[in-house]
Amino acid sequence: MKALILSGGSGTRLRPLTFSQQKQLIPIANKPVLFYAIEDVIEAGADEIGIILGPNKEQVIDTVESRSWGVPIEFIYQGNPKGLAHAILVAKEFLDDDFIMYLGDNILRDGIVQHKERFQRLKSDASVLLTRVEDPQRFGVADLNPDGSIRKLVEKPKVPPSNYALVGVYFFRPSIIEACSAIKPSWRDELEITDAIQWLIEQGYKVDASLVEGWWKDTGKPEDILEANRLILDDISACNEGQINESHVIGRVIIEKGSLIERSTIKGPCIIGKGSVISDSYIGPYTSVGDDCRIFGTELEDTIIMDNSTINKAGKIVESMIGRNVRIREGIALPKGNRFIVGDNSDISL
Ligand code: G1P
Repeated sequence: MKALILSGGSGTRLRPLTFSQQKQLIPIANKPVLFYAIEDVIEAGADEIGIILGPNKEQVIDTVESRSWGVPIEFIYQGNPKGLAHAILVAKEFLDDDFIMYLGDNILRDGIVQHKERFQRLKSDASVLLTRVEDPQRFGVADLNPDGSIRKLVEKPKVPPSNYALVGVYFFRPSIIEACSAIKPSWRDELEITDAIQWLIEQGYKVDASLVEGWWKDTGKPEDILEANRLILDDISACNEGQINESHVIGRVIIEKGSLIERSTIKGPCIIGKGSVISDSYIGPYTSVGDDCRIFGTELEDTIIMDNSTINKAGKIVESMIGRNVRIREGIALPKGNRFIVGDNSDISL
């Protein structure tokens, strides 16, 4: 079985972070979201992976190639992104076998092995994953028959027929290529995968739905990323490979190689990346500090700090996402006041 992982799109709801970083590379507990998808498809037995690329293609290739995955990975450039079904058409040469399609900004607690086994056991033509959500308008939604089979799929309905959202993981056979060629662009001018699956249903193909029991997150918005960070950190085990001086480390904390914690309190679950220094600070639960960061005289809680950022006497920072190479520090120059150099679409609460 092959896997097609989507890592394109412009991530407009995650600006300004996505001006310089592809959204699937945003770290959750110090690991790019995309890596969770790659690990899941490998665990489910994918023996070849295609990754669909968008605007920041070199960045994605470099990040993926920084690890060895043990299965061949082919990169496929989508050009102008015109929807998920369009991505399948772009990759059609690669998709000559049954395949898993995995949206690279989705993250599932329990992986996908049980869903792959169900797809193979039932010999379905396609299988979608569904889960109950409170805000189905944000997703593709399934209208189900009383026996749990799918009556209809609709993309982002104003009046949802149920609370069952389509999770961004699908199992297909090459028959989906014909479906993607048969449909027309939607009101948002995209070839919707939901419409292609609906086409399969209407043509009499067997389309199954598999329920996701553990948590699932589509990391499309900042609050979803912070929530995914909390969910992943909830499952970590403590591990210290750094140096700790005159500090209190409480609960499940990962401190990676080459990091130094001094005169600080760290309360898990949280993770401190490689080569970072934490001095005279408090790092509270659900915080991920990336590699090569400097945190001095500051309190952090429920926050993601990405690589190579420095925070110096910045008071208390909560529920925040701070990008790479950011500098936040106490202002000592006169006149007293807050000084900002902030990119487009930033969001600041003082
Ligand atoms: C896409 C699909 C939608 C699905 C969602 C899951 O939405 O079109 O059906 O529920 O992914 O993440 P999009 O991310 O394009 O808004």
